[in-house]
Amino acid sequence: MANYSTLLLLCVSVVALSFSSISYASDPKALQDFCVADKASQVNVNGFTCKNPKDITADDFVFHGLDKAGNTTNPQGSNVTQVFVAQFPGLNTFGISMARIDYAPWGLNPPHIHPRATEILTVIEGTLEVGFVTSAPDLKLFRKVLYKGDVFIFPIGLIHFQRNIGYGNAVALAALSSQAPGVVPIAASVFGSNPPISDDVLAKAFQVDKKIVDQIQAKF
Ligand SMILES: *[C@@H]1O[C@H](CO)[C@@H](O)[C@H](O)[C@H]1NC(C)=O
Ligand SMILES: *[C@@H]1O[C@H](CO)[C@@H](O)[C@H](O)[C@H]1NC(C)=O
Repeated sequence: MANYSTLLLLCVSVVALSFSSISYASDPKALQDFCVADKASQVNVNGFTCKNPKDITADDFVFHGLDKAGNTTNPQGSNVTQVFVAQFPGLNTFGISMARIDYAPWGLNPPHIHPRATEILTVIEGTLEVGFVTSAPDLKLFRKVLYKGDVFIFPIGLIHFQRNIGYGNAVALAALSSQAPGVVPIAASVFGSNPPISDDVLAKAFQVDKKIVDQIQAKF
């Protein structure tokens, strides 16, 4: 009997421990002032290993070029300039990143998910329709029209989008709660995966004819 309860206690502790280790809502806490990513390192860790502190200069903490508009001449009419750890190694271990988003008139930043970050978006120029959808079973759409100076939050892991509903260009700046938020573009992930998801699967999932699925797949 004593053995059973010891075992039970052990099981409960292990479960509790594993839950506590996944309950953090942001990137792991840094254990030093900084850890500029060493992109040349062959060591695989969660994030990047640190560049030798002796080789670090002020330049490691600067990213240039966010004043430049991205090219929005593409089918969606939008362009995201990422300032994630991949583009800005100095962000490593800090749990933050940002992006500039440019929109042509009526341009769309199509529905997508950041698996590892909540996003806070500021409209710098123009008028945006934005929205996110809650998880099942509610699938509730929270939608808003934003004007210059407005700030909106997209919660971590939820599908969201922005669309320029003005006749001029629009610009937004986003801040994200991860050095590597990740991007899951919904349409491209589902219809443009490599290799493709079988059209039988997608026809059934979307309850349409396979020809329609093939048509959409051909666009990605
Ligand atoms: C975004 O803009 C950059 C810089 O102009 C360009 O190199 C890139 O191809 C654009 N991306 C898309 C998806 O149009
Ligand atoms: C923007 O992208 C389009 C399509 O790729 C290209 O034709 C055009 O030259 C680009 N414009 C600039 C300013 O780079």
